[in-house]
Amino acid sequence: MKPAFYLTTPIYYVNDVPHIGHAYTTVAADVLARYKRLMGYDVYFLTGSDEHGQKVEKAATTAGETPLELADRVVKRFQALWERLGISNNDFIRTTQERHKKGVAHIFKDILEKGDIYLGEYEDWYCTPCETFWTETQLIDGRCPDCNRPVEKLKEESYFFRMSKYQDQLLAHIESHPDFIQPKSKRNEIISFVKEGLRDLSISRTTFTWGIPVPDNDRHVIYVWFDALTNYITALGYPEATDDYKRFWPVNVHLIGKDILRFHAVYWPTFLMAAGLPLPEKVFAHGWWTIEGQKMSKSLQNVVEPNMLIDKYGVDAVRYFLLREVPFGLDGDFSHASLVQRINSDLANDLGNLLSRSTAMAVKYFNGILPAPAVLNESDLALKRRTEEMIATVDGCLNDMAFSKALQAIWEVISAGNKYIDESAPWTLAKDPALKERLATVMYCLLESQRIVHIILSAFLPATAEKALDSLGCGEERSLVGMAWGGLREGTTITKAEALFPRIEG
Ligand code: MSP
Repeated sequence: MKPAFYLTTPIYYVNDVPHIGHAYTTVAADVLARYKRLMGYDVYFLTGSDEHGQKVEKAATTAGETPLELADRVVKRFQALWERLGISNNDFIRTTQERHKKGVAHIFKDILEKGDIYLGEYEDWYCTPCETFWTETQLIDGRCPDCNRPVEKLKEESYFFRMSKYQDQLLAHIESHPDFIQPKSKRNEIISFVKEGLRDLSISRTTFTWGIPVPDNDRHVIYVWFDALTNYITALGYPEATDDYKRFWPVNVHLIGKDILRFHAVYWPTFLMAAGLPLPEKVFAHGWWTIEGQKMSKSLQNVVEPNMLIDKYGVDAVRYFLLREVPFGLDGDFSHASLVQRINSDLANDLGNLLSRSTAMAVKYFNGILPAPAVLNESDLALKRRTEEMIATVDGCLNDMAFSKALQAIWEVISAGNKYIDESAPWTLAKDPALKERLATVMYCLLESQRIVHIILSAFLPATAEKALDSLGCGEERSLVGMAWGGLREGTTITKAEALFPRIEG
């Protein structure tokens, strides 16, 4: 049986339309999902939408809609964008779905019955946009430490989760599982946060109604983060012991942005501990994008709309840029100039040229029928070795979410291919019929290296890789399982590849 691999993105709030930050996590998750499928895994890739809470309720009131009408409208924008971006999710969960609401009510009741949820009274500073309570000492100049907006004092009857009880157990888990929270810098922040002491967490609200009612006390709705985090198990069928649940939980990796790490690395694991469920294997927090040097915000009107980027540059160029430009885990800056630079140099020049040059030569010198190679010389063997080593390097990088490094390793092989053409000068070999065998070997190595490159690249640039593999005459064997040099067969028909990426002027 295939090994299982479960990965998730955050579920996105429907009070905002999708922007580049949402696309970033989702594209990264898609690359990982596609890569794991290529490696023979049975992958469950989940994304979805977070539709409850005061934020959504307020946005709906402003828009003159019910919260569900708003959610129905905005969720389509997300789903349409994921389709355009080639996102291969297996499931899309909405927190307003029955399957989810049922599971959330169940886990709440379960923890309540076990004694780790109790009814009390809450008074503290609340930031509505962030849906977060803050203590006096956490405020910065009397404002929300996350978004710097004003906070208000709220007192309400509330159900509490006994998070304080799990402080030592959580710390012990983080310390004994070095890969649980990544990257390392973020792990250290969480360790310090937990060591400062965990307070019990208010997990219900009575000041608004748009949420999942607390079982047997519907004056309360369940706190939106308690509701939202549970999506990762309700999608698998929890509380039923479904085949999916048994096969895919615990999750292999939750991919998230750094701003929501505390919810995933502190709240979520302690909820799971209280419910007696296994913890996620890994939570990986990526950095944030600024736009042309500035924070992205509605008020600055610089929000980058992914559909606009796709219209202008194409899907695969956007996917490539997002993952190549900045190491996953660090903050980075988006600019049109750097995107155009990446397209022209990496995609048009290096990747596209290599394929069109080599397929054109195969057509010209061998009528597009791939010849068998003769004995490989030193430079052929060097290209073969580089290509083979790259497969292992990429695997290591992707296990560490080092997408940019993985792409660098692939591009080293592409550069090596371009250099190999220049050094072996097929056009000179072609002039001498006695060197036909040597020419055949060069063509074989060149095309075989690219077949392997494009199979791996199909995780990153699915449409581009498909075109490339078609022109390389690659049939159904587009998987990495058991893949080795030599898979390209003598006699395969090679067709001249069109430019994969047109250069962008200005
Ligand atoms: N609904 C919650 C998540 C619940 S998960 C159980 C939420 N939604 S969100 O729509 O506000 O944000 C989702 C993601 O977008 C977060 O991971 C956040 O880091 C990411 N980004 C928002 N702006 C971003 C950038 N400027 N750059 C990169 N990612 C950014 O939070």
